[in-house]
Amino acid sequence: MLVTGASGFIGSNLVRHLVRRGHQVTAMVRSTSNLAALAGITDLRFAVADLESGDSLAAALDGVGTVIHLAGVPNARQTGDYWRGNVDATRRLCQAIAARAKAPRIVLCSSLAAAGPSRPGCPRDESDAVRPVSQYGRSKLAAEQVVRGYADRIQAVVLRPPMVYGPGDRVVMPTFLPMARRGVCVKAGLGRREYSIIHVFDLCAALLAAIDQGTTLSRDDMRGGAYFVSDGHTYAIEDLCAALSRAVGRSRVRTIPVPRTVVRAGGLLAQLIAPASGSPSIVNPDKVREFCQSAWTCRTTRARDELAFTPRYDLADGLAQAMTWYRDQKA
Ligand SMILES: NC(=O)c1ccc[n+]([C@@H]2O[C@H](COP(=O)([O-])OP(=O)(O)OC[C@H]3O[C@@H](n4cnc5c(N)ncnc54)[C@H](OP(=O)(O)O)[C@@H]3O)[C@@H](O)[C@H]2O)c1
Repeated sequence: MLVTGASGFIGSNLVRHLVRRGHQVTAMVRSTSNLAALAGITDLRFAVADLESGDSLAAALDGVGTVIHLAGVPNARQTGDYWRGNVDATRRLCQAIAARAKAPRIVLCSSLAAAGPSRPGCPRDESDAVRPVSQYGRSKLAAEQVVRGYADRIQAVVLRPPMVYGPGDRVVMPTFLPMARRGVCVKAGLGRREYSIIHVFDLCAALLAAIDQGTTLSRDDMRGGAYFVSDGHTYAIEDLCAALSRAVGRSRVRTIPVPRTVVRAGGLLAQLIAPASGSPSIVNPDKVREFCQSAWTCRTTRARDELAFTPRYDLADGLAQAMTWYRDQKA
């Protein structure tokens, strides 16, 4: 199995998950990748390749039966970076796979953002029309379409996780934990805000199940071959914040609604000062557009029925697990 994006948050967790279960895994990394998250994993092979340039990609696919494609750009300063990192990179990977005498099967880790937001009380399912609202979401949807375009040559399954958290997460916990420690939680606007969420260990199990049991994409059925996965619950933002506060030992949390115009202005400001920090800010106009939606929720009926996917972690258990990891890192 080849895992692209192996040095990232989900990739490093997936590689551990697969190796523990006895799979022979090749971690695809770049020459510049930070490999700290993969330290200590025995029996792991590495392939150094770049999906944007295509360098060494053909060699990375030698002897590979399955590709789990996680490499991508969740956060970028420029729209073009989403396109290069999510769409062009996926196209290059598909071209290289399709060129093999026996094309490996591929599981693409897309995102709920590719399908778009839902409405409070009305989680999305795979038959709903897609409506991405961010550049990130549009690029993930375009990546799905690239893979679907190869349906006659490559067997492919798409997973669309919502927010993912757990050991090594660089966005969800680092964003919300500091607020939870202060006993406050910010939400955009006055209305109800609802979220689906998944612990990274459950996502790893779903990715593995998709390899063997997923229905593959076809050109005729535009809504088949894709699966939403989550822990099966819908959380109001207040629930998320309360769970995080409990996880850091606080008994009370106050939710502060911030007018959307102020949130948007904050996104613009963060974008303007981000170049000084050298890396894209996780607060930027694109993420703010996502943050201002009323609901990011999905049903997991199809994954349960077709992949036999049963999540092990609800939010309380998942956060307890993740907090243990965070504490160990600090110790
Ligand atoms: N985290 C979430 O909440 C979430 C939710 C839904 C979907 N997803 C999707 O899940 C996937 C993994 O997300 P993540 O949170 O693990 O992201 P991450 O921690 O930022 O990792 C991204 C990975 O992609 C690699 N990569 C980027 N551009 C590449 C290129 N040109 N060639 C080769 N590798 C490249 C990175 O390598 P370097 O280490 O070299 O930079 C890194 O290993 C992404 O496709 C994302 O869209 C994430």
